[in-house]
Amino acid sequence: MRLLSGMRPTGKLHIGHLVGALNSWLSLQGECECLFMIADWHALTTASDTSKLPENIIEMAQDWRALGIDFTRSVVFVQSRVKEHAELYLLFGMLTPMPWLERDPTLKNMMEDMHLHSASHGLTGYPVLQAADIALYKAEAVPVGSDQAPHIELAREIVRVFNHRFSLVFPEPQAILSHTPRLPGTDGRKMSKGLDNTIFLDETPENIRRKVMQLVTDPAKIHATDPGNPDICSAQDYHKVFRAPDALQADSDCRAGRLGCVRHKGYLAEILSSYLAPFREKRAALRGLEAQTRELLLAGEARARSVAAQTMEEVRRAMNLRFP
Ligand code: TRP
Repeated sequence: MRLLSGMRPTGKLHIGHLVGALNSWLSLQGECECLFMIADWHALTTASDTSKLPENIIEMAQDWRALGIDFTRSVVFVQSRVKEHAELYLLFGMLTPMPWLERDPTLKNMMEDMHLHSASHGLTGYPVLQAADIALYKAEAVPVGSDQAPHIELAREIVRVFNHRFSLVFPEPQAILSHTPRLPGTDGRKMSKGLDNTIFLDETPENIRRKVMQLVTDPAKIHATDPGNPDICSAQDYHKVFRAPDALQADSDCRAGRLGCVRHKGYLAEILSSYLAPFREKRAALRGLEAQTRELLLAGEARARSVAAQTMEEVRRAMNLRFP
């Protein structure tokens, strides 16, 4: 099975990226033929400042390497380097009714986050470009967070229109949704770099501790011996993700007033530090090897391009796009 996923290069990765997407990429890497794309064109739909883009691309690729994304086994590449994405995006645009895009809940959320009153043409076309990313490689599976599910549904609808109107070129892609619940940021809001509430993957143990101590717990639990409600405790959300086996114990200890928040968070900080330790080491070892990472991305791009070029031949033929 061929699988594709992508991520916008917004800079250093945080633990939200890990539990939302990358852990699932890592486990699928052994089972599927994978393409992992750095979606720099998609990043432009939400960022007007492009000055950090090249640096962010390399940073993210380095993070992927340190996590264990295998750049020789999987095809890892930068979206804007394979121009076929733009061509298929344009053609898919002809098949996509505007109302499909206007009702997209994910885009509406993105606009709210950015305090935008109207979307640019590029932002409105975001899911069309995403559909092109997937279809260009005839990917059948797309691991994404649940916020992206509407986009995969749209991709299915777009390729269905294409297959029906021209000829059967594309498989209908399936979303593989991550089952890990979304981790809240250290202030209880959605984890996002813009909100300054993230824990980066390469954070030092001291910083992890400092940030974990900020996590929002049950406000009604004031003393260590007060019974608490772990259902509204971010520390418990983290505990369930990073060390599930003893999370149940913490749950009942908290409810019984046997576990204070500070002690719980201290324990959690240790869990998280040791969970991220192997990453920290590998990431440090990659420092200075940016040139090597660039080479790997160039090799990935060549492999991606040859598949993309072949698909576009079929698309142009199906659509009668030939010189008369
Ligand atoms: N839209 C995705 C996100 O913001 C990134 C992305 C771009 C993507 N192209 C893709 C994901 C293709 C899956 C498949 O997270």
